[in-house]
Amino acid sequence: MSNKKVTTASLLTMKQQGEKIVAITAYDASFAKLFDQQGVDVTLIGDSLGMVLQGHDDTLPVTLDDIAYHTRSVRRGTERALVVADMPFMTYATPEQTYSNAAQLMAAGASMVKVEGGSWLAETIIGLVQRSVPVCGHLGLTPQSVHVFGGFKVQGRADEQAQKIYDEALALEQAGIQLLVLECVPVELAGRISQALTIPVIGIGAGNQTDGQILVMHDMLGVSANYMPKFSKNYLAQSGDIRQAVNDYIDEVRDGRFPSSEHSFS
Ligand code: KIV
Repeated sequence: MSNKKVTTASLLTMKQQGEKIVAITAYDASFAKLFDQQGVDVTLIGDSLGMVLQGHDDTLPVTLDDIAYHTRSVRRGTERALVVADMPFMTYATPEQTYSNAAQLMAAGASMVKVEGGSWLAETIIGLVQRSVPVCGHLGLTPQSVHVFGGFKVQGRADEQAQKIYDEALALEQAGIQLLVLECVPVELAGRISQALTIPVIGIGAGNQTDGQILVMHDMLGVSANYMPKFSKNYLAQSGDIRQAVNDYIDEVRDGRFPSSEHSFS
């Protein structure tokens, strides 16, 4: 692993060279430092913190202040990884609102912001990029839309829906995103999108044909005794040591062993 800072440019190079990108969520300085030292490429201050830290049923109650607070902590623990901060529900409903909210997350230490949704965000993304804010898109099962979907469900199984996600991915790249998260979509669709896009695509529940993977840290450490999504894996269970667990996750993503078909959707 090179000690050089991970940037949008180095992520692009990784994709071009066929080197898998390893990402994980982080919410505090200590875990951010551990992930950084073990060689994780991207840490995301996900609005999943609403569920895994705050105990909500979904991510909707998370505020911009919550994400800014945790971004400051993660930033202090990070030297190498690219720090990406989620824009919470309804904090990017209009372009103007988005610019001022994204500015707060960048000031808190993010190097990129993530927004959930498709082509309706094109104008917002163009405006952010023009104002020097790198953007990560998020398609498929976008958790902020859980009530529209009627639950946390795999997206893109029907042909028409798969085509829509594919088209949205192209539209987001066209608008200027530099990274895309694809969540809970069939392996084949994720593979097609990853091939079609120039930018790197990071999957969660999207199979092993993407350019990299992301997991929620609490899931990969098996923190919740009675909850483990199909697409995740408890790496702590096999080694009993947190650093080793993170190393194993990194190794398995890099050499394509994770996710296997057991952790993917068709
Ligand atoms: O909020 C989050 O942690 C996320 C990941 C699941 C990608 O968006």
